[in-house]
Amino acid sequence: MTKVVRVSPDNPDAHVLIECARVIKAGGLVAFPTETVYGLGADAFNEEAVRRVFKVKGRPPNNPLIVHIASLNQLGEVALSIPERAWKLIRWSWPGPLTLVLKRKEDLPQEVTAGLDTVAVRMPANPIALKLIELSRTALVAPSANLSGKPSPTTAEHVIQDLYGKVDVIIDGGETIYGLESTIIDITAEPPEILRPGAIPPEAIERVLNVEVRVRPLVKSPVTGRMRRYAPRTPIIVVEARDYSDLRSYVRRVKEVVKKNVSKRLRVAVIASLETCQHYGDLGVGVKVLSLGSRRDLFSVGRKLFKVLRDVDRLNVDIAIVEGFEEKGLGISVMDRLRKASCYNVVKF
Ligand code: TXA
Ligand code: MG
Repeated sequence: MTKVVRVSPDNPDAHVLIECARVIKAGGLVAFPTETVYGLGADAFNEEAVRRVFKVKGRPPNNPLIVHIASLNQLGEVALSIPERAWKLIRWSWPGPLTLVLKRKEDLPQEVTAGLDTVAVRMPANPIALKLIELSRTALVAPSANLSGKPSPTTAEHVIQDLYGKVDVIIDGGETIYGLESTIIDITAEPPEILRPGAIPPEAIERVLNVEVRVRPLVKSPVTGRMRRYAPRTPIIVVEARDYSDLRSYVRRVKEVVKKNVSKRLRVAVIASLETCQHYGDLGVGVKVLSLGSRRDLFSVGRKLFKVLRDVDRLNVDIAIVEGFEEKGLGISVMDRLRKASCYNVVKF
C-alpha cells in the first residue's frame, strides 16, 4: 500500500513529516520533493532499505546513489577529508542543487556507492526535504523517484505513475522548481570535473572557484544494448543547429525533418521553444506541437523539460521531433538530457 500525503513546501506540516520520518527509520521508502526533481528516500545506513530502492526503481546495482543531508554535521558521517575547494562550493551553494563527489566514509553501506571509494553528497533546499531528513536523524539516499530509464519526476503525479504500489509514502509538495537534477561535480579531480550537468551551470561554478572546470564529454553509449535514459516511450529525434541565431532557417530545417516523417505516414509531434512553436501550426492535420520555455530563459526550458517528455506519450504519436538549444549555461544540461532521451538520435545542421 502506498500512502499519498499533501504537504505545503512553504509551511511543511511537522506531524505529517514526523510520520514519514518514522517510515524511513523503519526501513521504508518515502518519495519527496526536492528543488530539482522528486527523490525516492531511504535511510542511507540501512542496507536492506537501500537494496529495496534499487529493486523498486529497476536500477542496475552498479549505479551509485546520492546521499542527502540536512546539516554539515551529517557531512562528517558520510564523507572524509573535504578539500578547501569543496568548502567554497558548499558555502556558496548549500542548501541547493549541487552534488559533490568526495572520499567516502567506511561506515556507509557498499550498496550506496556501488563499491566506489567516493560518495556523492548534497544538501537539498526544499523545506520538505530538509525537514524530512532532519526528523529522520539519518542521511537519506534519494535517487530520482522514477522507474529506471524514465524521465525524472517533477510532480507527485509523475511519481504516482511510476511507483504507486511499490513505495510506502509519496509526499506531494507540488511542482519542483528547477525541473533538472542537481549538477554533480568531482571536486577532487584536477581540474574539477562536472560528471553530470544539471541545475547549476558550469559557468557559475567557475566564477566561484576561479578555475576552469571540465564538463565530462557526452560519449555515445559505447556499450551496446545500454538502456535509454530520461526516455518517454515515444521515440525522439533531436534537431540541432550549429548556430541558433538564425531561427527562421533553423525552423525550416526542423520542418523538413517533420515532413520527411509525415511522408512515411508517421504521426508526429514537435517539441519546440516558445519563440518558434507557432511556426509549426501549418504542417497539416495530425502534427501536434508542445512548447517548452523561451530560448532567452533556459531555466524555463529546463523546468518544463521532463514534464513535456512525459506528456508526449499521451499524444499517441509515433515520433517526436525536438528542437535543440544553444549549449551555454543551462543549455548544456538541457541538451545532455535531450540527447540521452533520444538515445543519441540527433540530426545536426
Ligand atoms: O537532483 C538530484 O540530484 C536528484 C534529487 C532527488 O536529489 N537525485 C538524482 O539521483 O538525480 P539519481 O540517482 O537519479 O542520479 C544520481 C547520479 C547517478 O548518475 C550516479 O551515477 C551519480 O549520481 N553518482 C552517485 N554517486 C556517485 C559517485 N560516487 N561518483 C560519481 N557519480 C556518482
Ligand atoms: Mg535519475
